[in-house]
Amino acid sequence: MITLSKDMEVGVQKIDAQHKELVDRLNSVLALGAKSITKEETQRTLDLLGDYIVKHFRDEEALQKQSGYPKYEWHKSQHQLYIDEFAKLKKEFASNGASAKFTLDLNNSIVNWIVRHIRSVDVEFGKYYRSVQ
Ligand SMILES: [Fe+2]
Repeated sequence: MITLSKDMEVGVQKIDAQHKELVDRLNSVLALGAKSITKEETQRTLDLLGDYIVKHFRDEEALQKQSGYPKYEWHKSQHQLYIDEFAKLKKEFASNGASAKFTLDLNNSIVNWIVRHIRSVDVEFGKYYRSVQ
C-alpha cells in the first residue's frame, strides 16, 4: 500500500487531487494479489490505472506548458518512460499472468518510480508553478 506522505505534496490543488486518485488506483492493483479474482478483472483494473496515468500526465504537462516551465520537455520525457514501462507490465501480465516478474516490475518500475517521481520531480514543478502564479 502506498500512502501520500507530506513530502509528496506538490502544493498545486489539481495535481495533488490527481495524485490521490492515482495512488488509490495503484493501491487497487496492489490489492489484487491478496484476492482470488479472474484474469479479466486484473486486466480491467490495470486498464483503469493505465488510463488514469495518461490523463494525469497530460494534465500535468498542460500546466507546465501553460506556465512556461523550463524543464517541460525533460519532465515529459520522464512521463513517457513511465508510460512505456507500464505498457511492458501489461504485456507481461497478458502473456504470463501475475508472474514473479510482473510483481517485481509492478513494485519497482511502477510503484517505487511514481513515489520517487512525485517526491522529487513533481514537487520541484509545484515550487516553480506557485512561484509564477
Ligand atoms: Fe510528473
